Amino acid sequence: MIAIGSDHAGFALKQEIIAHLREKGTEILEMGCMDGTSCDYPQVAKQVCDEVTSGRAELAILVCGTGLGISIAANKCKGIRAAVCTDCYMAKYTRLHNDANVLCLGGRVIGGGLACEIVDTFLAASFEGGRHQRRVDQITALEEN
Ligand code: RB5
Repeated sequence: MIAIGSDHAGFALKQEIIAHLREKGTEILEMGCMDGTSCDYPQVAKQVCDEVTSGRAELAILVCGTGLGISIAANKCKGIRAAVCTDCYMAKYTRLHNDANVLCLGGRVIGGGLACEIVDTFLAASFEGGRHQRRVDQITALEEN
């Protein structure tokens, strides 16, 4: 299950991504916001990240205007490694090396075609472990301080 949420600035791109994933048959958990009415991205980040940390969602996608605010908020949630990606290379390697569990996108930054390719790349890639596990463990340890 892939959870997906956005604020108002990410709403249009979120809808494009949802349509794309539904067409591919990906099981998704559609979360707020449900229209383009102004809302606060930290609250959306918290709701969506809770789905990941509880184990209900395997991975999540968050969209705001830039992808930045919502990623900053998501990274305050324990157990979350959120990455803003603007290309497929970043999307691949943040899964392989950082074990990112939340992909953040900017609805005012990239178009739907590129965003859907980034999403596909992120969802298809897997954490490599090995030397990267040690580094991810060190990131997790930072949550305790
Ligand atoms: C909303 O106007 C905008 O600030 C928000 O979507 C996001 O880009 C913040 O980082």
